[in-house]
Amino acid sequence: MIKLRDSIEGEESFESLLIKRRSVRSFNPKQITFQQLSNILFASYGTINNGPHKTVPSAGALYPLSIYVIVGKESIDNLNNGIYRYLPITNSIEIIKEGDVRRRIAIGCLGQAFISKAPIIIIIAANFERMKYKYGNRGIRYALIEAGHSCQNIELATLSLGLVSCPVGAFTDSEIVKTLGLSDYEIPVYVIPIGNEDK
Ligand SMILES: Cc1cc2nc3c(=O)[nH]c(=O)nc-3n(C[C@H](O)[C@H](O)[C@H](O)COP(=O)(O)O)c2cc1C
Repeated sequence: MIKLRDSIEGEESFESLLIKRRSVRSFNPKQITFQQLSNILFASYGTINNGPHKTVPSAGALYPLSIYVIVGKESIDNLNNGIYRYLPITNSIEIIKEGDVRRRIAIGCLGQAFISKAPIIIIIAANFERMKYKYGNRGIRYALIEAGHSCQNIELATLSLGLVSCPVGAFTDSEIVKTLGLSDYEIPVYVIPIGNEDK
C-alpha cells in the first residue's frame, strides 16, 4: 500500500477553472508529480476528514464506484508503472498489476491513440448491482450520475494543477475489464487520460 499526500490548495478561482475547461487530446511526455496524482485521486472519490462524506455525493450513500489509475513507464517519479486501485478510506493506492498497459487501454478505447500518450489514465468503474439492490433499475442511473460527479471533480482538479484531460466513454467494456482484471461487479464507465498539454 502506498500512502498518498494530503491534497494541497490550488491558486486559481473556481470561475477561472470553469472558463478553461475543455477536453484536450494531446499530451507531452513530461512526468506528473506524486502530489498532482494525490490531489487528483482525492478529488475523484476522497474521504473527507475520515468520513463519512466523500468529495462526491452518492445516492443512499452506497458509494458504488471504484477508481483505478494506470501509471505509465517513467510517468511519475519513484512510482512504478502499473495498474493501481485507489483506497479512499486510507487515501492510498495499491498495486494490482505491474507493467505499462496504456497502449492496451488505448486499443480498448476503439484505438483512440492519444490515450496511450497520457502519463496517467484514470478509470472509473461502477457496481450496478449494489445500486439495483436498493433502487431497482433506477440504481444504474444513479451510479452513472455519480461517475459524472467524480469525472467533473477529476477534470477541475486536473486543471487547477496545470494539467489537462479528456473524458472518454467510447471503449469495449470487455477489453477494459480484461486489462484491469475487474470483477463481475465492476463495470467500466469512464476512461480519463491526464497529463501536460502538448502545445
Ligand atoms: C460521456 C462522454 C463520453 C465521451 N467520450 C469521448 C471519447 O470517447 N473520445 C473523445 O475524444 N472524447 C470524448 N468525450 C469528450 C467530448 O467529445 C467533448 O466533451 C465534446 O466534444 C465537447 O468538447 P469540450 O469538452 O472540449 O468542451 C466524451 C464526453 C462525454 C461527456
